[in-house]
Amino acid sequence: MSEPASRPPGEASSGAAIEAEGLCKTFGDFKAVDRVSFSIARGSIFGFVGSNGSGKSTTIRMLCGLLEPTEGSARVAGFRVPGDERSVLHRIGYMSQKLSLYPALSILENVRFAAGIYSIDAARRESRWRTLRDRLDLGPYEKLRVSALSVGIKQRTALCCSILHDPEVVFLDEPTAGVDLENRAVFWEIIREMAAGGITVFVTSHYLDEMEFADVIGFIDGGQMIALDSPEKLKANQAGGYRVEIIGPAGLPSATLEPMLLLDLEPATVAGARRRARSHDPSLNIRIALPTLEEVFLEMLRAREREGQVTP
Ligand SMILES: Nc1ncnc2c1ncn2[C@@H]1O[C@H](COP(=O)(O)OP(=O)(O)O)[C@@H](O)[C@H]1O
Ligand SMILES: [Mg+2]
Repeated sequence: MSEPASRPPGEASSGAAIEAEGLCKTFGDFKAVDRVSFSIARGSIFGFVGSNGSGKSTTIRMLCGLLEPTEGSARVAGFRVPGDERSVLHRIGYMSQKLSLYPALSILENVRFAAGIYSIDAARRESRWRTLRDRLDLGPYEKLRVSALSVGIKQRTALCCSILHDPEVVFLDEPTAGVDLENRAVFWEIIREMAAGGITVFVTSHYLDEMEFADVIGFIDGGQMIALDSPEKLKANQAGGYRVEIIGPAGLPSATLEPMLLLDLEPATVAGARRRARSHDPSLNIRIALPTLEEVFLEMLRAREREGQVTP
């Protein structure tokens, strides 16, 4: 890759790291991405959520300058796509869904290969590698072939290769797919650290629980952005109203929670002794608790009375 162009004057000061304006991508007659627009502030985490085939990867490929939009354009790290693809590529990191690693090569060999692509000299490469190796806990496996590694380690290796050149913006396409809970948590810790260090992170995921960490979430469906807001606002503005959650004590049969149906709530989730329902009353606060010892004692006395074991 040749040296990137210098940033156009005035654009470095813009608060947005990514700005998309009416991005469209059509494959034949099929609209994979349909007029997608958004703006992402520097150093923030943007969570891009949508079911399979909704257009997430296609949007990322357009933002990375790897796929030409049918219509619309974007500005990424101060440079335009289409137009300044080469400058964009030098300023972004892209971890694709397929983890572009060479399975027959070791971690170290993959890192050297990635450094070559970005024309990083040996001294810089070694110092970057030392930092990332320690942070991503890759040292113990550095000489192992990628094909022999667990998904979690492969994913951290792919991240390492995609951020070796110190990008301003990082695109992570389903980085935690197939990764166990513990490794997902570690990965999100790294994502948050990157953002705290000023890197803008654009991440897609199927797991909505981890999207709680995003500053802004975009929901895409059928190529169209159907919602774009912070997790807090998305929850607060949700059309379905509030959720009332009833969690029974351990071992409580879920039938014990049936009385909540009398409250005219619409049950949404049933999972063992745990129920969640829609409600339009924010003051509703339901708690199911174990009886007190006093209640237990009184119950026992009443039962004995009913059975005629004691004379009142
Ligand atoms: N190169 C292509 N040619 C034709 N259709 C494509 C191509 N790339 C993606 N698509 C289609 O575009 C839609 C969106 O794909 P994609 O962006 O990969 O979705 P996601 O990443 O959200 O799962 C899908 O229906 C997919 O089959
Ligand atoms: Mg995808």
